[in-house]
Amino acid sequence: MIILDIAMRWLHLMSAIAAAGTTILALFVLVPVLRESPEDVRTRLHEVIRPRMSKLVSISIGLLLISGFYNYLAVKMPLHEGQGLYHGLMGGKILLAFVVFFIASALTGKAKAFESLRAQRAKWLTISVLLVMAIVAIGGVLRLQPETAAAMP
Ligand code: HEM
Repeated sequence: MIILDIAMRWLHLMSAIAAAGTTILALFVLVPVLRESPEDVRTRLHEVIRPRMSKLVSISIGLLLISGFYNYLAVKMPLHEGQGLYHGLMGGKILLAFVVFFIASALTGKAKAFESLRAQRAKWLTISVLLVMAIVAIGGVLRLQPETAAAMP
């Protein structure tokens, strides 16, 4: 089990790095480059970048959910039984993550309903970067929460 626990923590960290890195790259590199490119180049770049970005986003979301729920339900919940602050922070972290997942899916998807979001790409990417920073900070605070006495070996 300990091997699986370590592997799931590694998977969570790696997919968090991929999700955060992709969002930061999109905001500070891709959006400015596309904005400065001539219309035909911008359209072509968008055509080749979007499907790849969408695949990376879907894989990162899937792996964050699998590793996140495993880490929470199988590893951390028994260690933090009855600790309201821990579970409250974790609930907030998961909610913020779902907002980031929604924005990332809407920005890399093709659904007509989210065209208005894609028209303000820089704004929503900025919101996503700030949310990811908050999520990582909460992850760090959670790590420092002492385990309940009952869970201590
Ligand atoms: C954008 C999405 C997310 C990012 C960037 C993220 C990032 C992180 C980071 C950096 C840590 C600290 C890792 C460590 O030091 O071990 C962490 C811990 C954790 N995350 Fe996430 N996470 C995300 C989504 C989720 C989701 C959706 C869940 C649950 C379904 C989740 C559950 C957890 C758990 C259980 C921990 C361990 C907390 C502890 O050490 O007590 N995360 N996350």
